[in-house]
Amino acid sequence: MGQEYAVTAEFYDLLQATEHLAVTGRLLDRWLGRPEVGVLDVGAGTGLATNLLARRCAVTVHAVEPAASMRAVLLSRLAGHTEVLPRVRLYARNVQDLGLAGIADFAWCLNTMAGLDLSDRAAALRALATALVPGGRLVVQRPPTRAAEDRRDLPSWQLGGDLYSGEVTTSPVGADRVRWRFSYRVSRDGALVREESEVFDGHLATESGFDAELVAAGFTVIGTDDPDIVVARR
Ligand SMILES: C[S@@+](CC[C@H](N)C(=O)[O-])C[C@H]1O[C@@H](n2cnc3c(N)ncnc32)[C@H](O)[C@@H]1O
Repeated sequence: MGQEYAVTAEFYDLLQATEHLAVTGRLLDRWLGRPEVGVLDVGAGTGLATNLLARRCAVTVHAVEPAASMRAVLLSRLAGHTEVLPRVRLYARNVQDLGLAGIADFAWCLNTMAGLDLSDRAAALRALATALVPGGRLVVQRPPTRAAEDRRDLPSWQLGGDLYSGEVTTSPVGADRVRWRFSYRVSRDGALVREESEVFDGHLATESGFDAELVAAGFTVIGTDDPDIVVARR
C-alpha cells in the first residue's frame, strides 16, 4: 500500500483548499514573522502554503514534496506566475533525505508528520534542524495522539452541476497506528458517476513524546496553536 497520493491529488484542492487556506493564513499571520534567510515547506503537497509563503516572503521557499502527483498540482499552481517562480525551489524527495544545511530561518510542516514512524520522524526532525539556522523557527503539526473508529464528511462542492464530495473513515491499527480511508465521489442528479478511494497509514505520538523528539533533534518548544501545532526554535 503506497502513499503516492495518486488518487487524492485530483480532489485535494477542490474539496479542502478553502478550509486549508483559512487555517494557513491565520497561522502565518501569527508565526511567520519576516524570514531573511529562506523558508522551508516540508510535505508541500499541492502547494497551497508554498504559494502563500512565496507571496509573503522575499526569500527563497524550498518546497519538499516526494509525491509526483502532488508536485504536478503544485507546479500547475505556480505556472505562469512569473512574480513567484524565481522564489520557489522544489525538491522531489523525502525530508529525511533533504541534505541541506543553514538554508532557512522559517520551516513549515503541516499534515505530514503523521505519516512517518518514530525512526523516520527522528530523521525528518534532524534534517529540519540541519536545514534551519540557529534561532530559526519551525511550525509543525503533531501526529495524532489517539485513534478511534470515526467517519466524517469532507467539504463538498458543486462543479458544473455535479457534486464533488468525500469522506474519511478512521480505524485504529494496534496501539500506536491508524489507517485513514479517503473516499471521493462525483454525483450528478443524485446518481453516483464515479467513486475513488485511497488509504493512508499513520502513526500516533503523545504530545510529550513529540516534544521530546523535537528536543532530541535540537529544538526548543516555544508555543502551540490549533490544530495540533507546535512552534519550536532551532
Ligand atoms: C496530507 S498531505 C499535506 C500537504 C500540505 N502540507 C497540506 O497541508 O496541504 C502530506 C504531504 O506530505 C508528503 N510527504 C509524505 N512523506 C513525506 C516525507 N517523508 N517528506 C516530505 N514530504 C512527505 C506527501 O507526499 C503529501 O504531499
